[in-house]
Amino acid sequence: MAYKIDLTDQVAVVTGAKGGIGAAVATILAEAGADIAICGSSPKEKAEEVLSGIRRLGANAEYWQVDLSQEGNGRKFVQDVIRHFGKVDIVVNNAALASHDWHQSQIINVASPCEIMEESAKDMAKRSYGRIVNISSSCIFSGGTTSAPYNATKAALDSVSRFMAKKYAGKGILINIIAPGPVLTEMAQMRYSKEEFSEHYIPQMPIGRCLLPEDIAGSVLFMASALCSAVCGETLLCDGGRVKLGVK
Ligand SMILES: NC(=O)c1ccc[n+]([C@@H]2O[C@H](COP(=O)([O-])OP(=O)(O)OC[C@H]3O[C@@H](n4cnc5c(N)ncnc54)[C@H](OP(=O)(O)O)[C@@H]3O)[C@@H](O)[C@H]2O)c1
Repeated sequence: MAYKIDLTDQVAVVTGAKGGIGAAVATILAEAGADIAICGSSPKEKAEEVLSGIRRLGANAEYWQVDLSQEGNGRKFVQDVIRHFGKVDIVVNNAALASHDWHQSQIINVASPCEIMEESAKDMAKRSYGRIVNISSSCIFSGGTTSAPYNATKAALDSVSRFMAKKYAGKGILINIIAPGPVLTEMAQMRYSKEEFSEHYIPQMPIGRCLLPEDIAGSVLFMASALCSAVCGETLLCDGGRVKLGVK
């Protein structure tokens, strides 16, 4: 029997989704039937392409311009989404800052996802159902090369996700973590050209190629669905085998 992941009548929140991994995640969740609420600090025009792509799939999609570097904005964003769509069933905390600024990294990469989890969980608990996926990074295992605040805050997100997973598992809300390997997105292009990126990473990739945003989105889809019924507080490395198998 064929199995279909069906997110019809569910509302999914994806932070930082104007492009890159977030846009691929929002799109695959819409393909599975969910209505989509996305946010970012950029003006709405920057999200028009992803919004119109999602609407062409037949899903409702809205964008909120939200600066997640300000405490309280994550909570307010979820409240706005619930006012607009009536509820929230799925959250993907994807937005992140790759920088050397400790304070900003802490707020965007850890505190805001926590606010978003707490505020969403209040609503999810009313229906005893919810799925939350937090996007960490394989750098928490490999040591990384981006910046100390990036590594530290991604590890903090991984850890606090388990704290939240324990807090909410009994309410039907399953919280998990995806740790992506290298994906050529806007964030990665701050450090590498396309050619440099491939030259640097492909030799380390057992699957013989760098990752695409869609590779990460597929794993998120599983963790965002009811098919994920007993995986809870887990970190899934989605890195083409680089960290565990990539040593030559
Ligand atoms: N690319 C990789 O190799 C890689 C590897 C491991 C993990 N990751 C993780 O994957 C996730 C997505 O990254 P990506 O590679 O797709 O990079 P990206 O395209 O740069 O996505 C980052 C997103 O975060 C949003 N963001 C940044 N600051 C924000 C703020 N103050 N308020 C609201 N939103 C903000 C950005 O939106 P605005 O520009 O509109 O603010 C952007 O859409 C991140 O969590 C990243 O750490 C990426």
